[in-house]
Amino acid sequence: MLISDCAFVDNELLDVVRLFENQPRSISHSFSYTEGVFINRFVVDDEEFIYEERGQVCDEILFKRLERRYAKLALYEILAQKTGEKMPWGALTGIRPTKLAYREKEEGKPFEPLFEKMHVSPENTALIRRVLTAQEGIYEKGKGGVDLFVSLPFCPSKCAYCSFITAPIDKTRGFLPAYLEGLKKELDSLQGAIKNLRSIYIGGGTPFALSTEELRTVLEAVAPLYDGVAEYTVEAGRPDVFTKEKLDLLKAFGVTRICINPQTFDDATLVRIGRKHTTEQTLKAFEMVQDYDFSVNLDLIAGLQGEDKETFRKGVEFAAKTLSPDNITVHCLSLKAGAKYKEEGGFDGYGKDVEEMVLASREILGAAGYEPYYCYRQKYQSGNCENVGWTKAGKACVYNVDVMEETADNIAVGANAVSKKVRGDRIERYATPKDIKTYLEKVDEIVKKRAEFFKL
Ligand SMILES: C[S@@+](CC[C@H](N)C(=O)[O-])C[C@H]1O[C@@H](n2cnc3c(N)ncnc32)[C@H](O)[C@@H]1O
Ligand code: SF4
Repeated sequence: MLISDCAFVDNELLDVVRLFENQPRSISHSFSYTEGVFINRFVVDDEEFIYEERGQVCDEILFKRLERRYAKLALYEILAQKTGEKMPWGALTGIRPTKLAYREKEEGKPFEPLFEKMHVSPENTALIRRVLTAQEGIYEKGKGGVDLFVSLPFCPSKCAYCSFITAPIDKTRGFLPAYLEGLKKELDSLQGAIKNLRSIYIGGGTPFALSTEELRTVLEAVAPLYDGVAEYTVEAGRPDVFTKEKLDLLKAFGVTRICINPQTFDDATLVRIGRKHTTEQTLKAFEMVQDYDFSVNLDLIAGLQGEDKETFRKGVEFAAKTLSPDNITVHCLSLKAGAKYKEEGGFDGYGKDVEEMVLASREILGAAGYEPYYCYRQKYQSGNCENVGWTKAGKACVYNVDVMEETADNIAVGANAVSKKVRGDRIERYATPKDIKTYLEKVDEIVKKRAEFFKL
């Protein structure tokens, strides 16, 4: 359906097409560059369009970037005009709009004119401005910072919308003793090798799906790497697996931040999404953590099956005004391969409603004193929206900022863990196997390869 003479932009042009509900039958594209002019010629459903953008560029990387940008912009403008549809992020399809904004700033320019050219809505441009402001003092590029991620891909049960590589723990518990040994082997190999630690994040998965003793094994293995100063998060996770013993354990090992993730405060929705916990359990978990001084994050999702705008709005209000944790993360449903919904068909997201839910959440959270401090987008996200982390003043999570902006090395251990080495604007990745069994077979090789990768 899409033919381009410029193969490396194919996928990105398809990303633009995917934004639209009404899609054309056929698109052909050709590109040329003549006397300082980028020329994109499209034929969409037999109608011809020619777009020209002036730009003298000698640098090859920059040339390719502009080639992609102008092709996407042209196609977006054609489809917006033909369908009458408008997207909140305009022609931007990348997952990190903030990175684009930072790049413009690094080149000494304000980012807003580029966002305007790409048809990003004024509300989203303002959102990114606020995110950049909230990241001041945390955003640290080129200073050799390191974050440590520990992957625990175990959950009490699998939620219908989730495509993470994680399985119900009753099916994988047999692997757990070997998995914990594998983690220990990896973590032991890092002793003395991490300098400039900015944060530790134990996530997955649902770390609290483990028993207290299993969790203790993980925390003991991490302990020699922790300097007692860096931010230390355990994404405890689902309210149904919270216990006082596990919280005591986290406290004893110096953990500073935890997550309690209701996703919604509507019990009927919880049943529909197969989450197998209740709002009462969420409230109990919040009550339980009152005795500790953890910084708390709460995750919500806009666009869950059967949840209308008003139910979502009330949930955000309850989270912000009644529970009032330090961080609230508002995700927009993104259905990818691996999610039950996707595999079984049926529910396909709510589109426009989600855009309205997101705008309502911004209003409520802003009024309650939260600031947006990171923002990223995913493929197939309902309403072509985004995920935003909101924070009370001074409580932004360093790990989330580093991961989203890719400004620090990430040493990631466990199965399905992607380590990243950041060298200027170049990022190299080293990924471990996704499946637990293969991971267990390869732990020794992983330890060796990671050491080579980071030159430890
Ligand atoms: C890595 S998950 C782990 C959290 C933890 N297991 C839990 O569910 O409580 C982090 C967050 O991503 C969000 N999430 C997961 N799947 C999603 C999806 N398909 N669309 C949007 N957000 C999603 C949820 O808000 C979830 O809390
Ligand atoms: S949302 Fe969380 S608890 Fe549910 S399956 Fe995904 S990782 Fe597990």
